Amino acid sequence: MIAIGADHGGFELKEAVKKHLEERKIEYKDFGTYSGEAVDYPVIAKSVGEAVAKGEFECGILVCGTGIGMSIAANKVKGIRAACCSDTFSARFTKMHNNTNILCFGGRVIGAGLAIDVVDAYLDASFEGGRHEKRVNMIMEIENN
Ligand code: RB5
Repeated sequence: MIAIGADHGGFELKEAVKKHLEERKIEYKDFGTYSGEAVDYPVIAKSVGEAVAKGEFECGILVCGTGIGMSIAANKVKGIRAACCSDTFSARFTKMHNNTNILCFGGRVIGAGLAIDVVDAYLDASFEGGRHEKRVNMIMEIENN
């Protein structure tokens, strides 16, 4: 189960991603926004981030205009490692090496075709563990201190 959210800058792309998840029969919960009307992205990032950090969802997807505001805000939630990715290589490797639990991208940066490939690359990758586990633990130590 995936938690998904967007602000007005990412609303249309979120809808396209939802359609793709439905086609792949991947369950999701939509945390809004539900129209193109302006909203504050940190509110959505906090809701999705907290739900993912609590373990209610296997991961999250957040879309704003650039993907950057969402990733900055989500990374403020304890336990969240969010990455803003506009290409499939980064999306795959941020799961494999950083064990990120939220994927972000920008509705004003990439189109639906690429966003869907980015989502698939992320969802179909797995954390490699090993030497990367130690490094991810080092990141989390920064958060805990
Ligand atoms: C909203 O205009 C825009 O600032 C937001 O979608 C996002 O790009 C922030 O990082």
